[in-house]
Amino acid sequence: MNLNIDVFSSATSFSEQDVRSKTVVVIDVLRACSTIQTALENGSSGIIPLAEKDDAGRFTRFLDPSGVLLCGEKKGEKVEGYQLGNSPLEFDRQTIENKTILFKTTNGTRAITRSSSAREILIGSFLNLTAVVDALLDRERNEVLLICSGWNSRLSIEDLLCAGAIIYRLFDAKLPDDASDGVKVSFGLYEKFGDNVRGLIESSNHAVRLREIGFGEDVAYCSQIDLYSSVPGMKEGVISIR
Ligand code: MLT
Repeated sequence: MNLNIDVFSSATSFSEQDVRSKTVVVIDVLRACSTIQTALENGSSGIIPLAEKDDAGRFTRFLDPSGVLLCGEKKGEKVEGYQLGNSPLEFDRQTIENKTILFKTTNGTRAITRSSSAREILIGSFLNLTAVVDALLDRERNEVLLICSGWNSRLSIEDLLCAGAIIYRLFDAKLPDDASDGVKVSFGLYEKFGDNVRGLIESSNHAVRLREIGFGEDVAYCSQIDLYSSVPGMKEGVISIR
C-alpha cells in the first residue's frame, strides 16, 4: 500500500514543520479524544479546542453565551468556573445537544492546536477505531502522522496501543518493510496486547491516576472498540463530524 505513516509519542514531540501538509490523527484515548467523539455523537454543534485557558475569551465574544459550554480539565479534574470537566460520561445529550463546546485539556487539545498547520486533522480513539482506519484508506494523499497526546510530554501506553491498532489494521497485520521506529514499536505493542485492549488500558499510568480521583468508569468507557462509526475532523478551528 502506498501509505507513508509515522507516530509521534506526545503532544510536544513534534514541530509545526513536522505536521505541515500532512493528514494528522490526534489520539488521546484517556480522555480528550474519547470525550470529543462522545460530545459530537450526542449532538454538540462543534468543539473549539483551546491551546490556553485564556483563549476562551476570544471566542465567547462572538458566540451566544446560552449556546456555549466551557469544558475541560486540569490534573484530570474540572477546572473551577467551567461548566463541565473532561469525563465523556458528563457529555450526555441532554447537557450538550446544540451546544458549542470550548474545550481545554492538558494534553489532548494541546496536541490538536499544535497540529494546526496540518492539511487535515482527524480525531482518533478506540471508540472510532475502524472509522479512522477506513478514513485513512480513503485518502488520496497518503502522508499520515499519528500523534499520541501522551501525558506531560511523556508517552501514554493507551495512546500508543491505539496508534498500533490503526497501523495493524491499515497494513493487514503485516509490518511494512520501511516502518519507522515509532511504527515498529506501536505495531509491536498492539501485536502483543491487541487481544486485551481493556486490560492494558486499565493498567496504564493514566488509568491509575483517573481511578484515584474517581473516574474509573471513564477508563472502561474509553476502552470500548468501535462504539461509534464517525470520524471527527477539524475545519477552521472547529471540530465536527463531517
Ligand atoms: C488530557 O488532555 O491531558 C487528558 O484528556 C486528561 C484527562 O484525562 O482528563
